[in-house]
Amino acid sequence: LVDIKEVSNLAHKCGALVVVDNVFATPILQKPLKFGADIVMYSATKHIDGQGRVLGGAILSSKNFCEKFIRPFIRNTGPSLSPFNAWILLKSLDTIELRVEKQCENTHKILDFLKSSKNIQKIYYPFDPNFKQYNLAKKQMIDGGTIISFELKNTKKDKKKLAFNFLNNLELIDISNNLGDTKSLITHPDTTTHHRLSEKEKISLRITKNLVRLSVGLEDVNDLIDDIKSSLIKTYK
Ligand SMILES: Cc1ncc(COP(=O)(O)O)c(C=O)c1O
Repeated sequence: LVDIKEVSNLAHKCGALVVVDNVFATPILQKPLKFGADIVMYSATKHIDGQGRVLGGAILSSKNFCEKFIRPFIRNTGPSLSPFNAWILLKSLDTIELRVEKQCENTHKILDFLKSSKNIQKIYYPFDPNFKQYNLAKKQMIDGGTIISFELKNTKKDKKKLAFNFLNNLELIDISNNLGDTKSLITHPDTTTHHRLSEKEKISLRITKNLVRLSVGLEDVNDLIDDIKSSLIKTYK
């Protein structure tokens, strides 16, 4: 996590603007403009749509910045949404708060299960009291979000194979790089979202071969936990 207030103070001292990609935190759980950021960006394809239907994005800033920079850029380069897609995203905003709250509730229950499993060796979730930046998370977020990353316990097996087996043994949770959806989705960052990074960069971001990233949806949380549990049993048998 980045301390938005501290970074904004530092940046403003030397005349720089602060841009926050607030996709993981969602507009419900973290309000970067309140902490001094100048621009906030969203891939609306994630929690804002939340149902895998539309590609879109949103940029928030002061009226002055939007009129001076964003409006001419959009007018001259043409990345405009179709009216139908814009309508879908507007309708999605009606339910985003309810969805994110329930998805967070499910995520906390999955966190509790993962903490109790002997086959999980590391967990990354901002509202887990063991998370290194827990105090910062509490300071700037309302809840920990709908995404949880965890490392499968190392065995002598090939680490990537271990993660792939775990993903392939899931039956309810789908493998996909998308996130924020009402459908729970899981991915293997090392070979997908972060595959272009060097090994050194991956190490600095703690992207290991046995790390998986789960985006928790709106399914019955007991079904999700049963799916993870049975996949772990098959993977470690
Ligand atoms: C944190 C974050 N920001 C931005 C994006 C970019 O999204 P898009 O491809 O819709 O522009 C993604 C996509 O995965 C993301 O995970």
